[in-house]
Amino acid sequence: ETIDATGLHVIPGAIDVHVHVREPGFSHKETWTSATRAAAVGGVTTVFDMPNTNPPTASVAALDRKHAIAGSQAIVDYGLYGLIGEHNLDQLEAMAQAGAASFKLYMGSENPLVPCPPDGAIVAAFEILARLGIRTTVHAENTPLLTWRGETLRAAGRTDAAAHLEQHIDLAAVEAVSRTAIFAEWTGAKVHIAHESTRHSLPHIRFAKARGVDLTVETCPHYLFLSTDDGGRLGDNFMRVKPPVREPGHAGPLWDALLDGTIDMLSTDHAPHLMSEKTRDVIWDCAPGFPGVETSMVLMLAQVSRGRLTLGQYVRMACEAPAEAFGMFPRKGVLMVGADADIVLIDMSKTGRITAAGLHSIGNATPFEGFALHGMPVRTLVRGKTVALDGRPVGPPGWGRPVTVRRT
Ligand code: NCD
Ligand code: ZN
Ligand code: ZN
Repeated sequence: ETIDATGLHVIPGAIDVHVHVREPGFSHKETWTSATRAAAVGGVTTVFDMPNTNPPTASVAALDRKHAIAGSQAIVDYGLYGLIGEHNLDQLEAMAQAGAASFKLYMGSENPLVPCPPDGAIVAAFEILARLGIRTTVHAENTPLLTWRGETLRAAGRTDAAAHLEQHIDLAAVEAVSRTAIFAEWTGAKVHIAHESTRHSLPHIRFAKARGVDLTVETCPHYLFLSTDDGGRLGDNFMRVKPPVREPGHAGPLWDALLDGTIDMLSTDHAPHLMSEKTRDVIWDCAPGFPGVETSMVLMLAQVSRGRLTLGQYVRMACEAPAEAFGMFPRKGVLMVGADADIVLIDMSKTGRITAAGLHSIGNATPFEGFALHGMPVRTLVRGKTVALDGRPVGPPGWGRPVTVRRT
């Protein structure tokens, strides 16, 4: 194919290491087809899929099944997370051999599909993953660990206390980040902090890095562009996401940390739900999370246009840092794009607005409705082949391949 890139910017495809594709189990929210079409249009050429599906990706059989589904539908490349549970530690190595790109640990999950292992099991898991040389991504939040007569606060009927903790006490996330870093230092494990949401974690992250812990950290657009002040516009229940979007005063320090490298990378925690699932009367009945793969690059390019960051800084946080942290490059210093032509062409003069209706995800309940855009990806190539053109996915289903990661 002949490509005319006159006047366009050329960057590597974004690598989003935090995506909930939803299949198997929740295909009414998203499928491998819809998620990877959204990713392609959004300039994302590799997604790492989270294991909180049904069944959860906690065994070789579940991983094989997900590889089959992804392989037949995906139009961008993908890595699959394996789940770390208290009862599957003896299977982590086999899952790694079966192609798990990374592993995910939930601290503070109340989802029975992905229960939260006790600290002893977390340390045991970190020891195994350290030996395997695989980075482990941690959902570092601990509110459900505060129990009352052996039950979580919510299960024990103390819903006001549980609500207050989940929505307002960001020290519950700070504690879990700090505990993760301590366990990583003990075991020598490489860990990755998912969806960093609060400025109060930043000193703990800096402290761990200064002590030599192999810690990487991501944040997501909803923590950079929103605050609790947006609850009035969007509805507090709609805004529910884990961890919660914080009060005004956090986004600025998170931006600074992302630009100075304390936070290594940008991911999205792409967590699509139907609008009906996000707009229920009781906050606990509202599904947490937002779609993100299609809106992250355009949101950031609008900030590039405003001069808040350079395109080079964006490439560092969205393309290079994830490739480096998760071992997706053939040699140190060799950029992923040089290896296999995952490329995005950007038209920095193109303007528009985000609309839920225009997104390719099934669960399209975006908090960024109406956000003004300046700079958009106009063509996305995966391994040299165009998979999205002018806002439309064009890739053939099944073009996406599992990534190979280097273990160190
Ligand atoms: C995620 C989801 O819906 O799967 N939701 C969220 O609010 N982030 C789960 C998660 O990442 O913890
Ligand atoms: Zn999470
Ligand atoms: Zn998530």
